[in-house]
Amino acid sequence: MSTALVILAAGKGTRMNSDIPKVLHPIAQVPMLVHAMRAGSVLAPERTVIVTGHGAEAVAKVAQAEDEDARIVVQDQQLGTAHAVAQARAALDGFTGDVVVLYGDTPFLQPDTLERMIAARADNDLVILGFEAADPARYGRLVMNGDALERIVEFKDASDEDRAITFCNSGLLACDAGTLFDLIDAVGNDNASGEYYLTDLVEIARDRGLKVTAVSCDEAQTLGVNSRADLAAADAVFQARARADLLDLGVTLMAPETVYLAADTVIGRDTVIEPNVVFGPGVTVESGATIRAFSHLEGCHVSRGAVVGPYARLRPGAELAENTRIGNFVEIKNAEIAEGAKVNHLSYVGDASVGAGTNIGAGTITCNYDGVMKHRTVIGENVFVGSNTMLVAPVTVGSGAMTATGTIVTRDVEPDALAVGRAKQENKPGYARKLFEMLKAKKARRDKGA
Ligand code: UD1
Ligand code: MG
Repeated sequence: MSTALVILAAGKGTRMNSDIPKVLHPIAQVPMLVHAMRAGSVLAPERTVIVTGHGAEAVAKVAQAEDEDARIVVQDQQLGTAHAVAQARAALDGFTGDVVVLYGDTPFLQPDTLERMIAARADNDLVILGFEAADPARYGRLVMNGDALERIVEFKDASDEDRAITFCNSGLLACDAGTLFDLIDAVGNDNASGEYYLTDLVEIARDRGLKVTAVSCDEAQTLGVNSRADLAAADAVFQARARADLLDLGVTLMAPETVYLAADTVIGRDTVIEPNVVFGPGVTVESGATIRAFSHLEGCHVSRGAVVGPYARLRPGAELAENTRIGNFVEIKNAEIAEGAKVNHLSYVGDASVGAGTNIGAGTITCNYDGVMKHRTVIGENVFVGSNTMLVAPVTVGSGAMTATGTIVTRDVEPDALAVGRAKQENKPGYARKLFEMLKAKKARRDKGA
């Protein structure tokens, strides 16, 4: 049976107090909407429809960056969740199979929950996802009769008896596409909010003799985000879960609560992460590496046995081969550092390749930017780059070469050559002593005058 996803993402999210549409706020550096899309991808959807409204263009851009085939529909006025799903009708034209409705602001859904909803569809026409709420607050309540779901009562329309129910509506559902749109046609807006409630589908379906049930998941999965406080709490939940997963996978986190992970961080077994390390998106660290304290990594790959930090910054395109060393206050961007190479202190290596076994001395800079364009620096194998070398790109340093400390390399250096480019030193005997005396006398005159 094929499935299609409809992800509701039109809401403004007033309580976020933001110019950014709510579903684009990130959790673990990935927009909430993308979390929802990735959760839904377990069903290998034949089509994905995103219902946008507020910030539709920005939302569409993010959705299509994640899945270029995602279909974007715009709900101009937010007239309720049923009205939102109705906007997907044309985008699902010709689709036969199950439609699964997700919310763009519910990023914690687990794959097996969706699988259970689809499985429950085998014996039911409409499947709703519910959860036992610790604090049912303003959620819609699920009125069950054995396994059958009789109706959903929105908080605003609920009696005291209904409000005592703790089994609540997550808002997610699964239903055959044809049936879903037939049912939606019958939804009215005669309720406390004057909105077209998706929750009304339940009673309409039952009136038509269809079978409706609710599948249950734990509340954490249905956690929605409505405010910055919710966002921070959701991020904390994500971090706790991701750290626990890494520990299970055999990664050492010396102070787990200080390591900040992205949703796609991959770290191999027996890697050690020291305290206060931040992972941005797109980082892979292989087994047996060490990331020392206060390092910041994004869009990079660290191979086996590499040691990074403390205080290192790996930016997008940093590719560290096995047993490389990147030390304190070193920034690497868009550069391949080959096996065993070392950049240990206070350096910037950007738009470059560094050959195996090469040592980059303290304070080395690849001058990659001329103010308009970026240029590459190519450094061969077993090169010794002396401290405080400026490599003015584009430039190549051949294998086995050396650069003398303080050299400004503006021309290519052939293999095995020594490049020296600095002003000649001159020593003037006795000058220092004379200079000191002169300066001290000057200071004494000034102190007296004051
Ligand atoms: C909804 C459910 C409620 C459930 C709760 C779970 C209805 C009527 N009520 O209530 O039973 O307990 O979710 O969180 O469905 N949206 C649109 N267009 C609209 C309206 C909403 O795209 O016109 C989107 C929102 O952006 C959001 C989702 O649908 O992602 C849910 O809307 P929201 O207004 O938060 O519904 P609730 O009142 O929370
Ligand atoms: Mg809500």
